[in-house]
Amino acid sequence: MRKPLIAGNWKMFKTVQEATFYTKELRSLVKDIHDVLVVIAPPFTAIHACSEAARNSNIAVSAQNMFWEKQGAFTGEISAAMVKEAGAEYVIIGHSERRTLFGETDVTVNRKVLAAIAASLTPIVCIGETLEQRDRNETLDVIDRQIKGGLDSLTGDQVAALVIAYEPVWAIGTGRNATPAQAGEVHAHIRSRLRQWFGAPAAETCLVIYGGSVKPDNIQDHIAQPDVDGALVGGARLDVRAFQDIVVKSRPATV
Ligand code: PGA
Repeated sequence: MRKPLIAGNWKMFKTVQEATFYTKELRSLVKDIHDVLVVIAPPFTAIHACSEAARNSNIAVSAQNMFWEKQGAFTGEISAAMVKEAGAEYVIIGHSERRTLFGETDVTVNRKVLAAIAASLTPIVCIGETLEQRDRNETLDVIDRQIKGGLDSLTGDQVAALVIAYEPVWAIGTGRNATPAQAGEVHAHIRSRLRQWFGAPAAETCLVIYGGSVKPDNIQDHIAQPDVDGALVGGARLDVRAFQDIVVKSRPATV
């Protein structure tokens, strides 16, 4: 049985002070929830403070990005070991905003995934099609390409331990949610490709979460889909009570 995972992607929001306050509040709101993995992804600057605020709690911290090299003359970049040392256990890789605004590709995603695993971080690998690709009926081909490229050369065990976030680009921050059936279809496809390319144990264990305008009033419909294991939440994570609500509604007993 896969444990649901709810991750809040904070994007470029919250100062260290705001992030610390939020984490402390969330900590008390979700302290009794042990059947959902709760992850927050603050900006780099707040990772350490959030990790301290979440120490010995059921909240894990994620970075939103990292660079694949260990160290060197890479002005502005941060290594996997650096985010790990700051307290992160997860790292979001290849978010569509990184792909669109910062030129990330499946090749760079793959380098980052390998570097994250080498540093004992759990990658949350983002994949998803644009509206044009969906309209051209290319969704499943795009997904195949992104899985093949992004997870190239990984072992079944490595795939079993990571998280894939399916985020249709047209549903991110738009308020336009994929229907649970649309998401469920793609998630089932992802699971079957994982089985084909990395083996049944990897496919059964890897968490495949959904992202794109997830809110308290639609999370239950998504998580009720058999292959949807949780959510990557953008806009709705800004309000700590809305985020808590999403976590509560993802509990296995409530679905
Ligand atoms: P959204 O963002 O929930 O605001 O659509 C999701 C994401 O960017 O991960």
